Parts: sequence; structure tokens; C-alpha cells
Amino acid sequence: IQLVMGIDVGGTNTAFGFVDRKGKLIYDASLPTKAELDARQLFERIFNAANKSFKKFEKKYELVGIGIGAPNANYYKGTVEKPPNLNWGKVNVVKLIKEFSDLPVVITNDANAAALGEMIFGAAKGMKNFIVITLGTGLGSGIVVDGNLVYGSDGFAGELGHTTYDPNGRLCGCGRLGCLETYASATGIKRTALELMAKYPYPSSLRKLNCEKLSAKDIYNAAVKGDKIALEAFDYTAKALGFKLADTVVHLSPEAIILYGGLALAGDLIIKPTKKYMERQMLNIFKNKVKIIPSALPGKGAGIMGAAALIWNELEKI
Ligand code: BGC
Ligand code: NA
Ligand code: ZN
Repeated sequence: IQLVMGIDVGGTNTAFGFVDRKGKLIYDASLPTKAELDARQLFERIFNAANKSFKKFEKKYELVGIGIGAPNANYYKGTVEKPPNLNWGKVNVVKLIKEFSDLPVVITNDANAAALGEMIFGAAKGMKNFIVITLGTGLGSGIVVDGNLVYGSDGFAGELGHTTYDPNGRLCGCGRLGCLETYASATGIKRTALELMAKYPYPSSLRKLNCEKLSAKDIYNAAVKGDKIALEAFDYTAKALGFKLADTVVHLSPEAIILYGGLALAGDLIIKPTKKYMERQMLNIFKNKVKIIPSALPGKGAGIMGAAALIWNELEKI
């Protein structure tokens, strides 16, 4: 039985897994991405771990390819180019992987991979026009129009995280000011919570936590208990996301917007206010037409499965 290895490179963790042709995730695991590692060092660790884990499966299964989703990845060129939340520079990943494996390798943007995963196996089954937004260390988007992923002229299309929310706003890892991902992402909501704590005197359970270690999950846990700062942080995050999504709808007229990634695990706490702000700012001809829904493959599912699907598609062409 044939399996594909899917890898989802994130700003904080890198997940990998083995996926069969039907999209079943046979095994998955993840390692910290670690800022100090370059691409070669990270993939070396991933392949060491993967080779070990595959031992359990090698009697029954055969690995036939490697699909990768990564930030700032270019499907046409096989490269990852200066990802804002990693210290990589420009790397030809497809070439680099040859050091670790002889199998065919395909790479695409991580959010594009998630969009493929949702389209084939998840919440976008049967949809022809939709957007997947990944809310993790950064904000990524995978755009599907008329049933196809949008790559654009040079392969980088769909970088919604680096569109401007506030031109005088927060410094982004890409070097610009006020990118959406500096507000609407797991790191963005943390920046917001810290700002709110500095600005307002309300008591908050978050004040007891170490600033460096404060996570989106902590903010979620506090919000669920009614913590004012945490709830305000969710509202602010949703406002940035909702307003920018209203703009995005004008360009693409999607049927649905699917939220994926760590912060999307907050469910209604992020979906409801995002929908509210999106509708508030929506052009009238689009009002109340676009759903915002959670991923049907949360955790690392959609990313790994979508990356693997790239290879299955590739093998079908041969
Ligand atoms: C990168 C995107 C990526 C997103 C989510 C952004 O900072 O520029 O390419 O999809 O983070 O990882
Ligand atoms: Na994308
Ligand atoms: Zn940016």
C-alpha cells in the first residue's frame, strides 16, 4: 500500500505524517521549528524522526513521495523565499530534500496545502470558490477560484497575511508596518493582549503569566472564563480579520471562508466576532452570503493531508 509523507512547516512547530491515497492520516508527529535552525537542519531532524517512525509501517506500506507546505513557498520554483517568521533566507527546498530522500518532492505555500486538504477531504468538499485562512504564528491564505488554487504569475499569490490593516501599525516580520498577520494570528493576539494590559487597569488572570510565555491558548482559556482583557483581545483580533475579509470578498466572491490553525481552535470565540465585523464592513451586494466556518481537519490535519495530496495529484499525471 502506497503512502505519501506530508510535511507542514510552521513558524513554531513542524508537523509530518504519512497519508494514504484516501487521505487517511496513518501517523503524525511534530517537532519544534526553532528559530535558530536553518532549512537543512530542520529537514534533517524531520527526516531522522520520520525514518524512525516509518520503521513500524515499512512491512505493510511503501513511501512514494513527499509533499511539503511551508510559509513563503513557491510551487513553481520549489523554493521558500525569506519567510517572515523563520531565519531561512532563500532556499531551494526541492533540491535540498534530495540530500535526504530520492522520492519525488513537491512544495507549496502552507495555507495552499491546507486549502487543498479542505477541498479534497474537509470542510470545502464540493466547493469551487473558497478561502482557507491559517491563523498560526503568521496568517496565511489559500485561495481557490473555480475549483483551482490561485498561484498567480509567479506562484506567490494569496499572501493575505501581508496586506495592510494599519499603515502606521505594528512591525511585521516581513519588514512592513501594520500587516494583517501582526493583528490576526496567534502572535498577533498575544501582542494585543500585552498592549491591552499595559493600557487598561482591569484585573486579568493573564497578568500573572510571564509575558514571553503568554500564548494564544492562555488568552483563550482566560476568555472562556470571562476575562475582560482576553475577551477584548479576541474582539480586536476579529475586527482586523473581519474587516480585511470583507475586502477579500470583493475580489473573490467566495462561498465560504474556512479558518484553520492554532487560533482557529478557539471556535465561536473567534468565528462569531469575525463574522460580525466582516458583515459590518461588507459591500451590500455581498452581505450575508459568505459563511465563515471552522476547518473540518483541525490540528495539523489539513496541512499534512493537503501537502500529501499534491504528490498524489502529481503521480496521477505520470
Ligand atoms: C507567510 C505565509 C504563510 C503564513 C502562515 C506568513 O507569514 O508569509 O506564506 O502562509 O505566514 O504560515
Ligand atoms: Na497562499
Ligand atoms: Zn508582513
